[in-house]
Amino acid sequence: VLIPAAGSGSRFLKPEGGPRNKVLAPLAGEPALRHTVRAFHALPTVATVRIIAHPEDRAALDEAFADRSAWTKLGPWIVGGAERQDSVRLGLEALEADGGEKPDWVLVHDGARPLCSPALIHRVLTALQSHSAVVPVVPVFDTVRKAGPQATSGGVMDRTQLRLTQTPQGFHTPILVQAHRRAQADGAQATDDGHLIERMGLALHLVAGERRNIKVTIAGDLALAEWIAAHPEWGTEALLP
Ligand code: C5P
Repeated sequence: VLIPAAGSGSRFLKPEGGPRNKVLAPLAGEPALRHTVRAFHALPTVATVRIIAHPEDRAALDEAFADRSAWTKLGPWIVGGAERQDSVRLGLEALEADGGEKPDWVLVHDGARPLCSPALIHRVLTALQSHSAVVPVVPVFDTVRKAGPQATSGGVMDRTQLRLTQTPQGFHTPILVQAHRRAQADGAQATDDGHLIERMGLALHLVAGERRNIKVTIAGDLALAEWIAAHPEWGTEALLP
């Protein structure tokens, strides 16, 4: 499992005296990233978890995982890049450079999604047995409108055809490696890994994501995440992909 957590948190309004990186902000009594890692670390089907981090966060990360020896599946931090895509590519390169057995499957999960349930991870893993690229999505409940110039509306999109994309996204490792190499060669940028698979003309298999799996993006999201963390069943229902 690769966990990109090397963002600058530029949209995250930092609480006074809080950490630079939103993934290290406290949630239910501990840094949010510990929840993210634990969701995977706890599963017998997961062999290794690698966090991709910004060098400036290294000391804070060491502090967040001061009980490092208890996290037996957690490998060394990987240094991330300027964009999320760079961070994931550097993560894949680190796996390639590692000696030993290469993983057949890789999951990529945003460090900023600390509330992902075991059921969702299992859904992705189960689908990976028959598909080489798996992406969790949720339906869109609001009416979606494009923004036109000068505060005009650019029209309404058909929400029945739209889905919001989440992580963990699961891949047969060689396919994801190839997708990242090709994107880098072409200078293509994407905000998720699934998009890089699609731009090679390959199919993505969609599974149901879940509403509790929010991405902590702005500071107010932490209060919401806190509430969700205190309600373990909320938002775990599998809404049809
Ligand atoms: O920016 P966004 O919220 O989409 O980031 C999703 C995840 O990617 C976050 O966990 C963030 O830390 C990570 N990221 C990264 N390297 C970057 C930018 C974002 O690992 N350069």
